[in-house]
This record gives sequence, C-alpha cells and structure tokens, in this order.
Amino acid sequence: PVAQKIKIGKATELIGKRVLIQGWVHRLRVQKGLAFIVLRDGTGFVQCVLSGDLANAYQTTQLTLETTLSIKGTIEKLPEGKSAPGGIDLVVDYYDIVGLAPSGEDSFSNKVQEDADPQLLLDQRHLVLRGETLSGVMKVRAALLKSIRKVYVEEGICEVTPPCMVQTQVEGGSTLFKLGYYGEEAYLTQSSQLYLETCLPALGDVYCIQESFRAEKSHTRRHLSEYTHIEAELGFISFEDLLSHIEILITKSIQYVLKDPVAGPLIKQLNPGFVAPKLPFKRMEYIHALEWLNEHGIPNEDGEPFKFGDDIAEAAERKMTDTIGVPILLIRFPVEIKSFYMKKCADDPRVTESVDVLMPTVGEITGGSMRIESVEELLAGFKRENIDASAYYWFVDQRKYGTCPHGGYGLGTERILAWLCNRFTVRDCSLYPRFTGRCKP
Ligand code: 4AD
Ligand code: MG
Repeated sequence: PVAQKIKIGKATELIGKRVLIQGWVHRLRVQKGLAFIVLRDGTGFVQCVLSGDLANAYQTTQLTLETTLSIKGTIEKLPEGKSAPGGIDLVVDYYDIVGLAPSGEDSFSNKVQEDADPQLLLDQRHLVLRGETLSGVMKVRAALLKSIRKVYVEEGICEVTPPCMVQTQVEGGSTLFKLGYYGEEAYLTQSSQLYLETCLPALGDVYCIQESFRAEKSHTRRHLSEYTHIEAELGFISFEDLLSHIEILITKSIQYVLKDPVAGPLIKQLNPGFVAPKLPFKRMEYIHALEWLNEHGIPNEDGEPFKFGDDIAEAAERKMTDTIGVPILLIRFPVEIKSFYMKKCADDPRVTESVDVLMPTVGEITGGSMRIESVEELLAGFKRENIDASAYYWFVDQRKYGTCPHGGYGLGTERILAWLCNRFTVRDCSLYPRFTGRCKP
C-alpha cells in the first residue's frame, strides 16, 4: 500500500497502516541484522526497527544521532512486556537519509554533554533544545500560554499588543534598557501596564502577552533580561475583585495545562510531586510576613530583624514560601518599596493595595495592584519618585478623561514554568535566555 505521510504524534492511531514519517535520529542502536532508531519530529518519538539487509546496509552502519531520515514502514503494536514510546514500533521497509549529521569530534553527543559547563551548554542552546528536557519544558510553555489565553477568552478580556519601544518607565529607572531612537532616547518596555490602562475606556478589560525587558544587574535564579510578561488590566473592580481574579486565573489555567494531552504527561515526568493550587490561596499581609520572618529567625538584607519598610528579598521570600508550602497572596506592601502608580489603602495610607503571588520553590510569580485614580495623587507619585511627568501625559489622561477604579497585574511566564516544571532557574524555561552577559545565540 501507498505510505501515508504522518506526524509521529498521530502514529498510535494508525496501527497496522503503512506510513511515511520524517524526523531526526534521537537514539540509535545498530547491531548485526537488527537496528533500532528512535525518531523524533517534534510531535513525538517512535521506535523504528530495521532488520536483515536494511540493518546491515553500509548506510545504516554510518548513521549518526541527529541525522534526518525519511522512513517508510508499518506501525505495529508492541507485544506485552516490551516497551517503546507510545507502545508501538515502526517496522521499516525503506528509508532515505535527508541530512547526515557529523560523527567523531563534531558529533551531537560530543557537543551536548549533560555534565558540561552550563555556559558551554548555553552556547549550544540550539542543540540542547533538541533534548527531551528543554523541548518538554517548551511544550509545557506552549500549553501554558494557550491555557492562559483560554481563560482570558472565557472571561471576555480583549487581547492587545502594546509597543515594546517606549519613552516611559514603569518599574524604576535602574533596570531600563536604553535605546537610540532616531536621535531620541527610548527604552525597551519593562511592562505594558501603562498602555493597558489606556485601553480600558476603549476596549474594556484587556490583556497582553508580550516581552518585557529589565537590565537586572545581578545574577539570580529568577531574573532574566528579557521575559514573556502576561499582563492584564481590569476596570471597575475592587482590590478584593483583583485578588480573586488572579487566583482564579492561576488555578484555572494550571488545570487546563494539566489536562492538556501533551503537557499533562510532561509535567508528571518533569515534576512528579507537583500539587495543583487550590482556591482560595492563603492571604498574608506584608506586616505579618515580617512578623513570620522575625519569628523564624530569617534576617533582612543587612542581617538584622525585619522592620516596616524593608524589602523582602529573594532568599527570605523563598524560605518563607517553601516553609509555608502553599501559594500565598502577599498583600499591602508599604508605599516606599512599591511603584509610583499604586493606590494607597483607605484604612492605612502607609501601605498600598498591592499583591505579590508567591509559589513554593520560586517565590514571586505575579505582581499587581490597584492604581491611583486621581490626577493630583498620581502627579504627587511622580514627584516622589523624581519622574518627569510630562512624558506620561497620555497615562495621566486616563485619569483626566473619565477615571475609574482599576487594577491589574503581571505574571512572569518563565517563573510559572519554573514552578510548574520544577526547574532550578527561569533560564531553563526560556527558549534562548537573556541575562547579564548573555545575548546569544
Ligand atoms: O512585579 P513586576 O515588576 O510588576 C510589573 O511589572 C507590573 N507593572 C505588572 C502589572 O501590574 N501589569 O513584574 C511582574 C512579574 C513578576 O511577578 C515576575 O513574575 C516577572 O514579572 N518578572 C520577571 N521575570 C523574569 N525576569 C525578570 N527580570 C522579571 N522581573 C519581573
Ligand atoms: Mg514584583
């Protein structure tokens, strides 16, 4: 019969059929009279079995990892007790080499050695990507973004694409990437929040999934120079509405990812102990977090007990979150450690209607707040932060032309993935990570 061209992901549905598959040699074992090739095409893996003359052919003995092949054969269900991906074999009757990969010094396995120096592996990221772990994380990433979009669609929130080249800052001048822009100064965006706010009166609730850029000076497990930022802005809401929206978005989208036929099994492999978050999340005020940290003898950045106004840095935050062991909505941060746009709490003007979502193993995955609604108060915020308000006239107009109570948040895609896939660092969750000292490949 004529071979039907298929992707490997569909192979298990075609038992007994003669098919054509094309892909890369992922694993290889050639012996006399019998050869096993695990072929990979991005949709899955299939074990191809060559026997007799096919196995003994000179061309077969010369095969190398990552060679591309075009293979024809019949799909057979494996007998009980034998194992291969999908529980099937492709019994090969014909194959062609499409592109032979190098052997010897330049061979794939020489280039990509698991225990090699991490920097060398990052240089070979394009090859490492072909491995099961990184490609698995990238598939979970695709399912995560799809699931997040699904929740936004269900909630009737409109997607927009704000610019990445901007002339305003959102999260502090120290992490801005400067850009020459036809003789003017511009920056790479740190967050699309301000633009999302301007969309509210036109489009209603909005979200975007866009790259954000931060010139982070230090090397940490969870900071990239470029990351994929999921942000939303909601109108006519209270702080309480914001908190429940965030916890629902996270729990629902994680449920969708776990149910995804590709991502679900991958998460089981990558992170067998993963516990899906349950509603409602634990809520904790900043001030109570300080008490918790002091009671547990975890010091601030200066090695002293925490006092009001201190930033809870990464290490302390992680210790607390790991010890508590469940998702936390950490709320009501002091004005002085948060951004200029955050609304103050009506019952205590020293603190803001702000929230960080903390997850075990990674810590902060989300930051959000209610926004200042009044023009005067916003201008005072600019002043306090020494920001030239004139560049923000369009943002101020959001308040001038029909203000409303509103709030929003940003989620770091790579941080969610680090938590979901149990990766040590967000670098393992980005296709080609950018961080201090690295902008290649
Ligand atoms: O807490 P951040 O700085 O908040 C904002 O940017 C707000 N303007 C968002 C908004 O309200 N629309 O960043 C939000 C999230 C963090 O919680 C973290 O998950 C991620 O973005 N993030 C980073 N991820 C990787 N590398 C970095 N350098 C990151 N900086 C922030
Ligand atoms: Mg933050």
